[in-house]
Amino acid sequence: MDTDRKIELFTETRQLYDQYVALFDEENKRLSQGNSKPSREYATQNEALLDGIALRLNGIIAIVQKGREEKILSAGLISSRVLNMTLFTAILTVVVGTLISFFSTRRINRSIVLLQKKTKEIAKGNYVQFPEMKGPPEIKNLADDFNAMSVKLKQLDEMKIDFINHLSHELRTPLTAIREASEMLIEGTYANAPEKKQQLLIITREECERLIRSVNRILDFSRMEAHMMEYRYQKANLTLLLQQSVLKLTPIAQNKRIQLELKPLPELPLIMMDEERISQVMDNLIGNALKFTPENGHVRIMAAPYNHSKKAVCVAVSDTGIGIAAESLKIIFEKFSRVETNGHKAAGSGLGLTIAKHIISDHGGEIWAKSAPGSGSTFYFALPAA
Ligand SMILES: Nc1ncnc2c1ncn2[C@@H]1O[C@H](COP(=O)(O)OP(=O)(O)OP(=O)(O)O)[C@@H](O)[C@H]1O
Ligand SMILES: [Mg+2]
Repeated sequence: MDTDRKIELFTETRQLYDQYVALFDEENKRLSQGNSKPSREYATQNEALLDGIALRLNGIIAIVQKGREEKILSAGLISSRVLNMTLFTAILTVVVGTLISFFSTRRINRSIVLLQKKTKEIAKGNYVQFPEMKGPPEIKNLADDFNAMSVKLKQLDEMKIDFINHLSHELRTPLTAIREASEMLIEGTYANAPEKKQQLLIITREECERLIRSVNRILDFSRMEAHMMEYRYQKANLTLLLQQSVLKLTPIAQNKRIQLELKPLPELPLIMMDEERISQVMDNLIGNALKFTPENGHVRIMAAPYNHSKKAVCVAVSDTGIGIAAESLKIIFEKFSRVETNGHKAAGSGLGLTIAKHIISDHGGEIWAKSAPGSGSTFYFALPAA
């Protein structure tokens, strides 16, 4: 009985019921005193009381029913309100979502159009940079990568121009020397001086060799770029190869009064390698060491099992030369890179180390260098054992 009206009806019901019970008891007593029939008065009162009880109970039932109907009605109202709310939220979500995606697409689109423009600029050889971008991290990363690519392309372009200038010099100088020397020989300039004639012939041969070296380097580089480098792999001994390399370059070292030394080698495992190509790597490493080491310096070659294991061999070529600055050390293995020291670059095509790196990695090995300006350089390479 949760409302005042219900409590009131119930209380009345109860009172009527109590009256009914009392009436019944009284009548019962009367009957037990010898009366055979219930009195007329009792029947009327009894009926009136029961009617009263039924009326009030029906009243309670009616109130409960009404309450239930009201609840059903209000539940219906609530559910229609929820439906409206859901519909509204859904429409709002779609609208806001569309707006967000419109703006973000427009922002991404703008960046892509800008990127397209800049790419065209780069294609024209104008190495522009992408401005600082406000946008999703993917676009920012793309812009950063684009800028890094632009810087790299610019570097490469400059290196290429430098390489072509340098190469034309490398090719033209020996050719001019050969032409001059042969003209002098034809004209008989030193017909009566056999030593001078001999000197001319030696110059011609040396220049021819220089020319062959340059052409070979360019050919190797082209083969490497075209992935057409061919190897003749064989199980071979590195000790012998190192000894031959040192022997071959000793005259150059002696000319420059540089002490070229092969340290005593421990027993090394055999290597599956193309000996000619690995010799080429050694020639370039020792050649560089001699080129960048002033007179009275030292160049040492060492080899040992790599990391004390028998699975690989490590070779080191160290010199007491000019050394390489940290930022240059990062690029010396890249094509055409030649480091400028005291405003000038030494002779060379800047391809030796690029080719060396390629050869070593084709052999499953690795090449690296440690150096500091003024305290010499050490170049290392490691090759897996056969
Ligand atoms: N031992 C070294 N000491 C100092 N600098 C070195 C040494 N070895 C290489 N470098 C630097 O690295 C650059 C690249 O060497 P790399 O052998 O690739 O080319 P290069 O010797 O100039 O030309 P190439 O070998 O093609 O004739 C050199 O120009 C030089 O600046
Ligand atoms: Mg070199």
